[in-house]
Amino acid sequence: MTIEENIQALLDKREEARLGGGEKRLEAQHKKGKLTARERIGLLLDEGSFEEYDMFVSHRSTEFGLDKEHYLTDGVITGHGTIDGRVVYVFSQDFSIFGGSLSESFARKICKIMDQAMKVGAPVIGLNDSGGARIQEGVKSLAGYADIFQKNILASGVIPQISAIFGPCAGGAVYSPALTDFILMSEDHSYMFVTGPKVAKTVTGENITTEDLGGADVHGKKSGVSHFQVENEETGLLLIRELLSYLPQNNLEDPPMLECTDPIDRMEDVLNEIIPDNANKPYDVKDVIYSITDQNNFLETQKDFAKNIVTGFARFNGMPVGIVANQPNYLAGVLDINASRKAARFVRFCDAFNIPILTLVDVPGFLPGSAQEYGGIIIHGAKLLFAYGEATVPKITITLRKSYGGAHDVMGSKQLRGDINYAWPSAEIAVMGAAGAVEIIEGKKVRKMDKEESATYLSAREREYRKKFANPYEAAKYGFIDDVIEPRNSRFRIIRALQTLATKKDTNPPKKHSNIPL
Ligand code: HXC
Repeated sequence: MTIEENIQALLDKREEARLGGGEKRLEAQHKKGKLTARERIGLLLDEGSFEEYDMFVSHRSTEFGLDKEHYLTDGVITGHGTIDGRVVYVFSQDFSIFGGSLSESFARKICKIMDQAMKVGAPVIGLNDSGGARIQEGVKSLAGYADIFQKNILASGVIPQISAIFGPCAGGAVYSPALTDFILMSEDHSYMFVTGPKVAKTVTGENITTEDLGGADVHGKKSGVSHFQVENEETGLLLIRELLSYLPQNNLEDPPMLECTDPIDRMEDVLNEIIPDNANKPYDVKDVIYSITDQNNFLETQKDFAKNIVTGFARFNGMPVGIVANQPNYLAGVLDINASRKAARFVRFCDAFNIPILTLVDVPGFLPGSAQEYGGIIIHGAKLLFAYGEATVPKITITLRKSYGGAHDVMGSKQLRGDINYAWPSAEIAVMGAAGAVEIIEGKKVRKMDKEESATYLSAREREYRKKFANPYEAAKYGFIDDVIEPRNSRFRIIRALQTLATKKDTNPPKKHSNIPL
């Protein structure tokens, strides 16, 4: 062969690989309203930055006629590129080749880029669209999944791992995304379940659609499996880029600073009036969040799941911060099982990747009742407690209003190594609300009184209790609160606290690993 012929052969091979499972199947993908695996990579990465690995890989199976059916790439496109100039590794499952199903070679390709990502210290992004284990390969594909799981586990807490679900993700295949830090699902075509509707019907008799069993809505609102529910794939790919802008490349780096044009001492007069006079009246804690962050930006995670707690990323003077805030607008901001699970995982993520945590507290306590107790609120609440207590990143807490009982301790309290704990003048830091407290303390006494007398007596005691405990000063007296601040000045105080804590060092005792109440 001449040199020209050699080069032409290479170009032909590349072209063949780019055609995936063939034009017809790529067209079928478009007809379903889906992007192809390569189009997804094109939208995700900086233009022209993608470098592909293992384009010429094929499977090695001979069973069920596979010896006669070979496609270059073998159904997954892998490589690296950049997002905003920073290196990321990516794999994109190609549904046009054997339905994106996972073979031994396919798994090896993913493992290869995961190994490199670990060495380089760069995030891994997986774009999932697959019929699961390649049925013709049998047990080899199961081993391939397990190899990926093991790498996901070892990479956890070292490099950010992000999974987008843009098609089927079923059976044991769901566990690789589940082991990663964030799952994003597109509303069109994506679903995740351990067993599908047919198996559910056979085993339990339940009649349920694919969508109702594992669609984006279900995992965004009910199960909490996904962190981001997006309208379509394009929006999802842009959202991954935005998410990465808050994250460091790995656990040894600080998160990326951006230049900030928003004045650091911007006063927000509206915050002085945001807390209603009546302690039982709600307000939207997101109004507080948006008013204090750089350019009023906030990237919320799990926004439709456990809405009684708000989690997400923002910047203060250009510095990425993880925010956890009770939401008085939903179930009065009470802590329940789902809120505890959601916030605990978020706090642990931030701690693993050196992202300071800002906690905004307005919590009436833990949700009472048998449903919560039987569901294990004790263990789930302990997760959040554990996550805060274990975290060594800078922790700033502002109590906006209620901070009652055990929930007070949990929500980034001083005793859980809160670095700077502020309170607004409207804060009420107490064992419980005034009405409940007085009823318990004075119950015996008032039972002997008539109705009118007991009402007068109780309301006097309530006033007394409120005066003593329903304020921030009792806690400030003991140093549990470092300062009581004017609400409109919160942005400035947070930024100054973050600057002060930028060189903070804290450690946990040496151990193999902790035993978080899972
Ligand atoms: C091999 C597969 C495949 C698979 C799909 N294909 N899934 N090939 N192994 N798992 C092939 C089809 O034969 C077809 O090939 C092409 O991909 C497109 O599939 P269609 O069925 O035509 O597409 P669609 O109608 O969109 O349906 C998609 C689907 C369906 C819902 C994913 O294909 C399906 O149910 N597949 C099987 C899913 C499954 O049971 N997987 C194993 C799960 S167990 P042609 O040549 O016609 O284009 C598992 C265990 C993992 O994954 C354990 C990990 C620990």
